[in-house]
Formats: sequence, structure tokens, C-alpha cells
Amino acid sequence: MTDSFPPARFPATRMRRNRRTDWLRRLVRETQVTVDDLIWPVFVVDGESQRVPVESMPGVDRLSCDLIGEAVGQAWGLGIPMVAIFPYTDDNLKTPDAREAVNPDNLVCRAVCAIKDSVPDIGVMCDVALDPFNSDGHDGIVQDGIIVNDGSVDVLCQQALVQAQAGCDVIAPSDMMDGRIGAIRAALDGDGFEHVAIMSYAAKYASGFYDPFRDAVGSGDALKGDKKTYQMDPGNTDEALREVALDIAEGADMVMVKPGLPYLDVVWRVKESFGMPTFAYNVSGEYAMLRGAGEAGRLDYPKVLMETLAAFKRAGADGILTYGAVDAANYLKSG
Ligand code: PBG
Repeated sequence: MTDSFPPARFPATRMRRNRRTDWLRRLVRETQVTVDDLIWPVFVVDGESQRVPVESMPGVDRLSCDLIGEAVGQAWGLGIPMVAIFPYTDDNLKTPDAREAVNPDNLVCRAVCAIKDSVPDIGVMCDVALDPFNSDGHDGIVQDGIIVNDGSVDVLCQQALVQAQAGCDVIAPSDMMDGRIGAIRAALDGDGFEHVAIMSYAAKYASGFYDPFRDAVGSGDALKGDKKTYQMDPGNTDEALREVALDIAEGADMVMVKPGLPYLDVVWRVKESFGMPTFAYNVSGEYAMLRGAGEAGRLDYPKVLMETLAAFKRAGADGILTYGAVDAANYLKSG
């Protein structure tokens, strides 16, 4: 908009003229959600032929590795570029040192292999954080009640390495320890994985919107205390820019803001400030609200899902992690 051309006023200008028909609305639309914008988070579980509904997330199942190829194949068939893997770990595998996280044959690694076997061309992203494997439920190692930083980063580097060895394309540290992006980049490069990308959960807030996810991965009951000493305070945005700047300096290829919808201002500022590939995580609680209201007959779920995804695009996001990715892709396909 420029001041040198003041717009003609009514009645010469009638804003409704450009909204008159569908073809015209399509023609003047400023942002588009496409299937290329979608990352689909998938929960995996041990065993065979397992399809276990996540109670807190209607429409979402945990899948065993023998079923995951088919589900991811459908997503790929719809054009979804990448999936993100999250494991439901049995309680008896959880320990205070979260050693299952660095087991090269853990559920995440087996799921990556299963996907790469059946759908070799789809992108696979893995979360780096210890909470699914930690008997304390925290993203880092807990010592004397403190979530230690540098000791946790060592374990996170090993976790990233076993995931890369399994075939993961994008390492996504969600733990919010300081210095982990640089350390993980160095560990990957040192092991011949310089082609593996890092999407950092750069501005991740201590949010109440993650509770359904914690149910899905089975970490909610384990969690002692809260995550406020490492995840960000919801009141802050300048701090988000500092977090993002550090992660870029340490080697992040893509950055993420999380949660999504309640933090669109942060998405906007991050994109404006850095011009990096910027992603938003439309988290479990956001999904559960829309889907739940849809199932209760209060909202038209596909409609509000698409409207939500459009909001991310307007705010400057290059892509969105959403549990509604397959629903959105189906919606886009059906036109
Ligand atoms: C693990 C992790 C969480 C989410 C993604 N990775 C939970 C948390 O930090 O407690 C949340 C995703 C969602 O709610 O959909 N660190």
C-alpha cells in the first residue's frame, strides 16, 4: 500500500466486487495452503498389527511398525512431503538415564527403517528429546532434581546419531537445552551425516497445549514437576528471537515455533527477522480442540482446520506440523 495513490472511495470502489464469485476469490487470494506445507506427526508403538487410539486425540492412532508403511504410503500418495515420528515407549524401558533413547534398535529407529523400506522417497523427521524414554518424563537428564544441560546435550547427540544411522532425514531437537544445535551438528558431521538437516524447535514454550501429546507418548504420568526451566515463558517474544538467532548461528537449517496458533505473533516476527525456513507446530491441544468440537457437532472440523492452516501461512510460516495433515491433504485433493 502506498500513500501516493489514495484509493478511490465508495461508490467507485466496492470491495465486494472481488468477492463476487469463486473463480474471482481464487484469483485474488493472497496466501494458499498446499499439501507441500504439511508435516504429519505419527505415533508409533511396539508390537504387531497394533492400531491403538489415542484417547486424548480423537482420530489419532498409535501404529506398530508393520502398519506404519501403509499409513505413511497413503500420506505420500496424497503428496505430503514429510512425516515426524514419535514413540510410545513401554514404562519398563524408561530409566533415569533414558538409555533407550540411544539404542540403535529402539522403536523410533525401527519405525524409520520401516518407512524407508516401504516409502523411500518421503522425508522422515525425528524428535530429539529424552522425555519418551526418561522415567522422570523430562527432555533432559535429571540429577538431584535439576535438569542438567551439558550432560543432557551429550545424550541428545548420541540420540541424533542413532536416528541418522537409521535413515532419518531431518533431526528435530525439541529439548530446549542450551548449545544442543551446535553440538548435534558437530556430532552429525563427525559421523558422515553432513547431509542430514536440523529443524530446531527454536522457540518452544512451556505450554498447557501439549497434554494430549504426553498422553500419546505416555510421558504425562512420568513427568515430575514442569518444564519451565528449559521451555520458554509464554510472555516473551524478544527472547524467542534470541533463541532463534542462536540456533541459526549454531547451524539450524530450519526453525520452528511451538505451539502454533497461540503464538502466531512469534511466527511472524521470526520470519520477518531472519527470513529462514520457518515452521509452526499446530500442537496436540490445538488439534484436540478442533477435532473434539467437530465430533461434538459444534464446529465443521475440516473447515476450521483449513482456516487454521491458512492463518499459519498468513503469519509467514513455510510449513506446519499438524495432526490434521492427512485430513487437510484429503480436503485439498477433493477441491
Ligand atoms: C517432546 C515433545 C513434546 C511435543 C513435541 N515434542 C512435548 C513436550 O515438550 O512436553 C509436543 C507436541 C504436541 O503437543 O503436539 N519434547
